[in-house]
Amino acid sequence: MKLTVASALLAIVGSASAFSAAPSASGSGSALRSTPTATETYTFTKSEEIFAEAKELMPGGVSSPVRAFKSVGGNPVVFDKVKGAYAWDVDGNKYIDYVGTWGPAILGHADDDVLDAVKATMDKVFIWTKPRRIAGTSFGAPCPLENVLAKAVIDAVPSVEMVRFTNSGTEACMGMIRLCRAYTGREKVIKFEGCYHGHADAFLVQAGSGVATLGLPDSPGVPGSATKATLCAEYNNLDSVKALFDENKDEIAAVILEPVVGNSGFIKPDKEFLQGIRDLCTDNGAVCVFDEVMTGFRVSYGGAQGYFGVTPDVTTMGKVIGGGLPVGAYGGKKEIMEMVAPAGPMYQAGTLSGNPLAMTAGIETMKKLSQDGVYEELERKSKKLVDGIVATAEKHGLPISGDYAGGMFGWYFVEGPVKNFAKAATSDAELFGKWHRAMLERGVYLAPSLYEAGFMSLAHTDEDIERTIEIADEVMSQL
Ligand SMILES: Cc1ncc(COP(=O)(O)O)c(C=O)c1O
Repeated sequence: MKLTVASALLAIVGSASAFSAAPSASGSGSALRSTPTATETYTFTKSEEIFAEAKELMPGGVSSPVRAFKSVGGNPVVFDKVKGAYAWDVDGNKYIDYVGTWGPAILGHADDDVLDAVKATMDKVFIWTKPRRIAGTSFGAPCPLENVLAKAVIDAVPSVEMVRFTNSGTEACMGMIRLCRAYTGREKVIKFEGCYHGHADAFLVQAGSGVATLGLPDSPGVPGSATKATLCAEYNNLDSVKALFDENKDEIAAVILEPVVGNSGFIKPDKEFLQGIRDLCTDNGAVCVFDEVMTGFRVSYGGAQGYFGVTPDVTTMGKVIGGGLPVGAYGGKKEIMEMVAPAGPMYQAGTLSGNPLAMTAGIETMKKLSQDGVYEELERKSKKLVDGIVATAEKHGLPISGDYAGGMFGWYFVEGPVKNFAKAATSDAELFGKWHRAMLERGVYLAPSLYEAGFMSLAHTDEDIERTIEIADEVMSQL
């Protein structure tokens, strides 16, 4: 007999933990364990049970590959709830979380104002004597909240004059590349080794992140015809881009890049590299695309283009602009965006795109991010963490190089500088796996792959960062 959804949930997580009230931001929920002392490490009995069952139900037990911890060894922990800078697993273990749901949680998890605004959107109108929720979760029709978020994005991001909302970064990048091809009437696209632009067929070439984590060269199932027009250059190497332009005169529709790489670990661009790409695109009639799905509203309010002062023609976004709900977007010069249907002939659509809940979460998040000093504070904290980790590694004689921009950071267990994917891949993967597990067992949740960046939030306190460095000191002394 089939279980109902409710009884299946209860069977899996037990009655208490799944349905107990959200813990306070300080993490003082009574049934919850706080981070362990130096000598104590966590146990993961319930996580193991749930993950074992998940593997029978979903490929690899997960809904997205890197979550499975394949490259760091051991099983993932199964989350129960999140608040502020913290996550709790189903065993009640508390973590200082530097993954932040892979970037969106820039205010900290479950921000009260975002949650209140989402609830208010759902419960918009009360009718008659009986409260009735009539605002709903999706209209599939125009809604004024789309205008509000669109205006916020256009005001903030230098290259964006018009925007189309989607439900994910993958959709945004897929739509964008179709748009670049439609606009230029050309097919070839230059991307960079180790840059990830979602899982659309054309981008699954040297795609960093999940693909590199699993050691897959490219994904089976992607037809050769889909990637034939995708050319790969080396990050921070302008000559490699020039060579491709020379070999493919008047054939390049676009150059797409992560303007700070977060899918090969964390790699900053040289300013001349970004400007050089911009200029090469202008000189060759190609569209310059910054994929700011990760960096948008993360490294500065104007994204990486605001941070470095280099403006592309068009931009893809996601993560932060959804405030924790599924949103992506692409935008750019009006002249290009007006090619998108129904203003123009380039087709792209989405049933849930622009839904009121996701728009609301994005709007509330942007309100907070637009305040003075937010990004200075995020960068101060990222620097404090990276400096602390680098100094600790050096103290223990471990090779290390680290860097940060706004609320995004990373480090490699290799001497720097790391300027491209090939160098990132020389980082010690075995050491990283041991480090990751030992930090996890002591209450620090880091991305389970050396090919991922870390994310700071406004909710992380100086004490959280100092505690993280203390734990790192203990762990590194044993590596
Ligand atoms: C730079 C970049 N582009 C695109 C994507 C794809 O976004 P999504 O996972 O929302 O489809 C990601 C996801 O991590 C990303 O980091």
